[in-house]
Amino acid sequence: MTIQPVRKAVFPVAGLGTRFLPATKAMPKEMLTVVDRPLIQYAVEEALEAGIEQIIFVTGRGKGALEDHFDVSFELEATMKARGKSLAAIENIRQTPGSPVYVRQQEPLGLGHAVWCARHIVGDEPFAVLLPDELMVGGFLRQMVEAYERVGGNVIGALEVPDDQTHKYGVIDPGARDGRLTEVKALVEKPAAGSAPSNLMIPGRYILQPEVMRILDAHETGAGGEIQLTDAMAKLIGRQPFHGFTFDGRRYDCGDKLGFVQANLALALDREDIGPAVAEFARLHLN
Ligand code: UTP
Repeated sequence: MTIQPVRKAVFPVAGLGTRFLPATKAMPKEMLTVVDRPLIQYAVEEALEAGIEQIIFVTGRGKGALEDHFDVSFELEATMKARGKSLAAIENIRQTPGSPVYVRQQEPLGLGHAVWCARHIVGDEPFAVLLPDELMVGGFLRQMVEAYERVGGNVIGALEVPDDQTHKYGVIDPGARDGRLTEVKALVEKPAAGSAPSNLMIPGRYILQPEVMRILDAHETGAGGEIQLTDAMAKLIGRQPFHGFTFDGRRYDCGDKLGFVQANLALALDREDIGPAVAEFARLHLN
């Protein structure tokens, strides 16, 4: 079996972000900031650190701020230069010309549909999918790529959650376990309470073979009437190697208010510049 390298990453950013209204009424959820960077930047940096060469955004209406974020801001740069200010905070955000690539999902029909919208750019090679509202600290995609280079096929994130949380996620029916890799026997999207095959959910990181696009061509709907990526991936099991990978690091679900506040607090505490002052502030407020 030849294992093709993962060079491309798809970032589905066309969702409506209804759990975060009113903040996301006029602003993309992916532009919400954790300390001083928008969520999308953490995800793009994670992908670049994993060796990804081409960034593909699946966007929708009202997502223009995302494109501007990765572009040159001529006025800002010229003014800052003229005033002798350092451009360090913005210089490395800009990607090489021609990347990112933007494709449009005209209607938010589900994550599977969003990924399918990138099919012409992905072409016939393995690719990664990163959901930017899940903020990972510790190089999740890099660890997954390393595991993929050993086993090939499809490798998706696998994370243990409390039993009463499984109904919110795609869940893995696990087979044999080998270190951080777990064989995937089946996948279920949002199982009814009490019916989940395990408490291993899929956080928003995937390395997939291009055949998943042919399955998504059928536009079959699943849980919530949406075209689900989980259902399409499930059809690859048995045809190609399929593993879950348990990450050695931290995950914050920033699509949810509690996870978002936790991410801001944790990443602020991690920082050398403001960490000690934030810790002191938190201590005073908790007393
Ligand atoms: P979510 O399930 O978090 O949906 O999508 P959402 O619309 O962003 O947020 P809520 O639930 O209404 O608050 C997971 C990821 O898939 C993308 C989202 O942008 C997010 O990154 N997505 C989802 C799409 O790009 N298109 C879709 O049709 C659905």
